Amino acid sequence: MASPSTSSTIRCFTMLASAALVILVSRSSCLQFSYPIFDASNEADFGFSPGSGIANGALQITPSTGNMSHRSGRVFYTRETLKLWNSKRTALTSFATEFVLNILPRNGTGEGMAFFLTNNPQLPGNSSGPWLGVTNNQTDGSPANRVVAVEFDTRKSSMDDLDGNHVGLDINSVESLFTYPLSNVSIVLSSGSDARVGIQYDGASTVLSIGAVQEGHVFTHELLVDLSQFLLEDISFGFAASTGEFTQLNQIKSWNFVTIGDDRGGHRKKVGLLVALMTLLTLAIAGGSCLAFYVWRRVTWQRRQAYRNLEKMIDARGPIRFKLRELRSATANFSPDRKLGRGGFGTVYLGYLPKMNMEVAVKRVSATSTAAAGNNNSSSNRGEKEFVAEVNTISRLSHRNLVKLMGWCHERGELLLVYEYFPMGSLDKLLYSSDAKNNARTEQQQELNWERRFKIICGVASALEYLHHGSSQRVLHRDVKASNVMLDAEYAPRLGDFGLARVVHLDGATHHSTQAVAGTRGYMAYETFFTGRASLDTDVYAFGVFAMEVLTGRSPSAPVLHCDGGGDDDDHHHGSRRGKPMYIVDWVWKLYGEGRAPRAVDAAMKDDGEVDPAQVECVVRLALACCHPNPRERPSMRTAVQVLIGGAEAPEPPVQKPAFVWPPVGNGQEMELPQVGVLFTGGQNSSFCSITSTFVSGR
Ligand SMILES: *[C@@H]1O[C@H](CO)[C@@H](O)[C@H](O)[C@H]1NC(C)=O
Ligand SMILES: *[C@@H]1O[C@H](CO)[C@@H](O)[C@H](O)[C@H]1NC(C)=O
Ligand SMILES: *[C@@H]1O[C@H](CO)[C@@H](O)[C@H](O)[C@H]1NC(C)=O
Ligand SMILES: *[C@@H]1O[C@H](CO)[C@@H](O)[C@H](O)[C@H]1NC(C)=O
Ligand SMILES: *[C@@H]1O[C@H](CO)[C@@H](O)[C@H](O)[C@H]1NC(C)=O
Repeated sequence: MASPSTSSTIRCFTMLASAALVILVSRSSCLQFSYPIFDASNEADFGFSPGSGIANGALQITPSTGNMSHRSGRVFYTRETLKLWNSKRTALTSFATEFVLNILPRNGTGEGMAFFLTNNPQLPGNSSGPWLGVTNNQTDGSPANRVVAVEFDTRKSSMDDLDGNHVGLDINSVESLFTYPLSNVSIVLSSGSDARVGIQYDGASTVLSIGAVQEGHVFTHELLVDLSQFLLEDISFGFAASTGEFTQLNQIKSWNFVTIGDDRGGHRKKVGLLVALMTLLTLAIAGGSCLAFYVWRRVTWQRRQAYRNLEKMIDARGPIRFKLRELRSATANFSPDRKLGRGGFGTVYLGYLPKMNMEVAVKRVSATSTAAAGNNNSSSNRGEKEFVAEVNTISRLSHRNLVKLMGWCHERGELLLVYEYFPMGSLDKLLYSSDAKNNARTEQQQELNWERRFKIICGVASALEYLHHGSSQRVLHRDVKASNVMLDAEYAPRLGDFGLARVVHLDGATHHSTQAVAGTRGYMAYETFFTGRASLDTDVYAFGVFAMEVLTGRSPSAPVLHCDGGGDDDDHHHGSRRGKPMYIVDWVWKLYGEGRAPRAVDAAMKDDGEVDPAQVECVVRLALACCHPNPRERPSMRTAVQVLIGGAEAPEPPVQKPAFVWPPVGNGQEMELPQVGVLFTGGQNSSFCSITSTFVSGR
């Protein structure tokens, strides 16, 4: 490096100044609260409109005594506002909230409640009746309302209203953009019994997820809503409600709220960092260019040094560090012809490494994902260190049914991961390679005979058992599914795409959110709607769905048409047959309950005389047990492996799928706060695919 020059001094100064600015601008605190119950001492935390308050251990959004008719009300949280943008302003703020709603009919039922986000928290006048305390006759529909609400409507108040029991999304108007009749899922809002509602917003993908459960009946839905189109930075949030001629108590019995992804728990560190940087800055100004340059040199030198040490550690016993040049030439400069597919966090290319004479799969992590591991801000030192450490850990995971991470490259903002290549590709390609024209089974599908399928199920179970219980660090996979299972030349399964959540961050998300659920629709257990986090239990659930997928050759994301009565031929193939659409778990459960489990077997194997009925029975029972709605009833992966190899009895799931109950019964645990987690990471199409796995605490 040349001696201190003016240009590098200016560069150094700008760097420090912008780092300080970034930190000043960012708000490090995370907005979080939890009210398991409400009492008078909580009153200071909320803004109440006249007549609303706290009574009977609940927020009463409209008056609970006296004149209850033709009233409206709002209760909102006043300690803090929710910021529209995350602290780095890279995405909208993600949040999760969960509340227990209890609507008690008084004189009939009416009109409804709403969870709202707004820049105008004060209750609009004349907002009783159909206006739900959200808008009124004059303002309804005006963008100036700046309100986005999820409504729980208990009265059909106009011709346009769907019915007297629905959930809806209201933007600046009580005329909902989306509505769903809750009667379809047997939830009755105004029954007087508690309904637990979970609402999550993923700022990166702008997916708003709504879940509700009442007495075992579940409603879930996801919508795309770009809040920045309707709201400004400082958002007030809370509940609104109204009554009309008919009245009800509009009560909230408990309420949790948390923002996601903004440096949680990093508050002190950041303040510390801020102080340090400001000091540095002052020194730099005071001491002039020389000092500034010196400081800058030291900082970068230390960073490089730390990085080199870690690299050495990896080199000793870990994956290979590739040169960007090398991987570029291996993949013909990431030529589109070499593209193998897109997966969580990036695109995968086929590469050929001449020096090893082998083909590899190169995952090029997309640019936005590397932001957190980038090298142009003050946190990059930490980012890189952790990156290397994680790569090291992942590469040490070694199991015959896991895809091996061979190496990596992190140069010039590019993040590349090099894996073993399996020419056969992923399991889903074989499972679903049907000949669309005449619905015939392809040769490839026939290759997947029962013996091979059973081995695939056993192999994936064994890999998960290893991740969960076998290595020194407990690893969650978080996205078990057929498209993440590669097949080798012997049709043995290799589970891939694990362990990267910590290496790669979606822009803005920090390491603290790596327990986030980022699964794929159809493989996700219901409880993730309420906990927002991945766990061993959610992996077990996904494995159960996966086992059913392999057995039946049906995609979990597409409903199966189920015909009652059951003719002799395959009632589970598409076509013109009428029937009730059912998701794979419900469908297999129904067949099992009717004693017809073998009918779930993929028709591609029906002529295959080698389908072993005992093994089918075992897989069905195990898979159903893994998909038990109550996470505490699911077996561990260790037990699952025992069952598959015949070392333990197959579980006996109940003949009817039990109702989902939340919080789970069977222990006195507190309601879990939705702590971290972006529930869904939206994809371009319906496949909500994303990455993958995370480490939970070591054992
Ligand atoms: C109850 O309050 C509403 C709204 O303030 C008012 O319109 C109505 O007349 C009142 N009813 C009675 C019986 O006082
Ligand atoms: C209950 O509702 C009916 C129907 O509008 C109304 O006539 C009656 O006055 C209400 N009763 C009370 C006690 O508010
Ligand atoms: C409410 O309605 C009454 C009667 O229509 C009207 O006089 C009053 O100005 C309205 N209040 C507001 C805040 O719109
Ligand atoms: C709004 O108020 C006007 C005048 O009071 C009335 O004519 C109109 O029907 C009201 N609209 C609705 C939707 O209630
Ligand atoms: C709700 O159920 C009704 C009657 O079965 C049906 O017509 C309607 O399409 C369902 N709505 C939705 C959104 O599923």
